[in-house]
Amino acid sequence: MNSALELVLDRLENLPTLPAVVVELLERMKAENSSAAEIARIIALDQALTARVLRVANSALYGFPRKIATVKHAIVILGFQEVIALVAGMTAFEQFGGRQDARPGLATLWHHSVACATATRLLAGLVGYELSGQAFVAGLMHDVAKIVISQAMPEMVRAIREEGARGDLPRRAAEAMVLGLDHACLGALMAERWNLPIAIVEGIGYHHNPGAAQQCPEAAALVHLADVVAHRCGFGDEEVEDETAVSPQPEAFAQLRRLKVDFNESYLDRVAAGLEDEVERSVGFLNLRPREAAPARAGQGVAHGS
Ligand SMILES: [Fe+2]
Ligand SMILES: [Fe+2]
Repeated sequence: MNSALELVLDRLENLPTLPAVVVELLERMKAENSSAAEIARIIALDQALTARVLRVANSALYGFPRKIATVKHAIVILGFQEVIALVAGMTAFEQFGGRQDARPGLATLWHHSVACATATRLLAGLVGYELSGQAFVAGLMHDVAKIVISQAMPEMVRAIREEGARGDLPRRAAEAMVLGLDHACLGALMAERWNLPIAIVEGIGYHHNPGAAQQCPEAAALVHLADVVAHRCGFGDEEVEDETAVSPQPEAFAQLRRLKVDFNESYLDRVAAGLEDEVERSVGFLNLRPREAAPARAGQGVAHGS
């Protein structure tokens, strides 16, 4: 094995794990005999988790007209798989992207992540993808490995930048040269390690090559196209923006036509038209970081990573 890759995997081992209550929920998610009442009871033991579930259930993510007042009600309406995937994914993201002490330069990447998550959710709604909460989390976490590389392996950031400059390589190719794998693969490994559902793992792992996804190609296609829309709308995050960031891959359209026969570019335009306002609403309910972490939009300031 490439020695850098060994080092990366070793560092991965030392990353924070999810809180015990979230791990327990993920285990229940896999167990066939778990009931909604049981899941509600576990969540109710944790006040912060309870608040999060209610905030998300009552947010723009679902847009229910009536207020959802209890965790049990949220589970009945959304399904416990969806509720668990959401709380687990948001908690995992918070370990890095939402940390209050995250470096200021990461604000750009954080806003890119929220924009991509929001666009993923909007697209999922337009094509009728049933795991829209999981797609949202995959969008939120699609570039999480960049945050990890930056925070847990800062020496690698410089090496990636130098490798990219030396070979005139796109960032992902430079990552693969230096680390032995790119941020999409690393993010999928992390999501797997956290036991997140496969739609989230593949949504992250194949967001740059959705045609290669095996089990959840729709999730990968949604995140890929949402990433493109986010870049097109100025929520970019590349140090050097290249054409691939705004060019959707045809395989992604083919995947989503299985859900919506007439799916085409015009759907991306529809999402792009409302994205800015929707991102504001997402930021409100995510509540992971203080609002003053304003986005440094593409071309206006520091830009980190894809
Ligand atoms: Fe990416
Ligand atoms: Fe991205």
